[in-house]
Amino acid sequence: MEGWKGGLATPEVADRKARVQMRAPTIADWHAQFARQAGWTQALRSQLCRRAGLLQAERVLDVGCGTGAITEELAQRTRGAVIGLDIDPERLAFARQQPGRARYEQGDALSLPYPAQHFDIVCCHFLLMWVGDPARAVREMARVLRREGTVLICAEPDYGGRLDWPDLPIRQWQIDGLRRQGADPTIGRQLRRLLVHAGLVAEVGLFPARWDVDAGVEDSEAEWFWVRYDVGEAVDAATLDLAQDRARAAVAEGTRLVYVPTFYAIGKFT
Ligand SMILES: C[S@@+](CC[C@H](N)C(=O)[O-])C[C@H]1O[C@@H](n2cnc3c(N)ncnc32)[C@H](O)[C@@H]1O
Repeated sequence: MEGWKGGLATPEVADRKARVQMRAPTIADWHAQFARQAGWTQALRSQLCRRAGLLQAERVLDVGCGTGAITEELAQRTRGAVIGLDIDPERLAFARQQPGRARYEQGDALSLPYPAQHFDIVCCHFLLMWVGDPARAVREMARVLRREGTVLICAEPDYGGRLDWPDLPIRQWQIDGLRRQGADPTIGRQLRRLLVHAGLVAEVGLFPARWDVDAGVEDSEAEWFWVRYDVGEAVDAATLDLAQDRARAAVAEGTRLVYVPTFYAIGKFT
């Protein structure tokens, strides 16, 4: 992006340096982001849960539940017991403060603290990108699943397919930033391999996307908070400011577009 980089030498842009002070996200910020993501996936996620027989399930596990953004929703749609498991005690404490019937337990997705063939549905939502060894996590999900049960990988993104209008270099910034955080930014395309290697028959698909004319300014500002968080120090503040200004202008004009392909997968033993 030559023209893009060339624009950075101007005094106007240099003045913007250090304008944006990135603050550390609070647990409330994390929950707001998780709830936002859960909103994007809600419609298709509901269908997947219905297909997995959530209503009749006796035991359901939400692996990497975070602040419980989807866990209580699962609990409201079944008569069975729903456990949310996460490795992060602060997120679990937040989840436990919310009203509802889901139960929350601390544990590692790479070594699930449950016996084999214990759950009717084992699901996760935006977990595998972060887990370090996603193949092992999916094998663990399959191990604790009853033979007739369903693994639901509700949503995993693939930033390698990110598209932006205006045509800003955010895709590469975010891929590099996520890798520095230890995440796998191209996890989405790997779901089929992960399920098949865990001995499961896989159905894999993509979430549809639609851009309304009034796609929210607020949503765009929230998106930028997390882009800046992912990118960290690797891109200087003035460059990020300029990119955000261009994105804002496009939002104001109604032409902004962001697409991150997000995959789902259903796994069964037969
Ligand atoms: C992006 S968040 C998603 C949270 C939640 N599933 C949601 O969609 O709102 C990923 C979660 O995975 C958890 N996590 C990462 N590695 C884990 C592991 N090895 N075992 C259990 N949880 C893990 C993190 O603590 C974090 O809460």
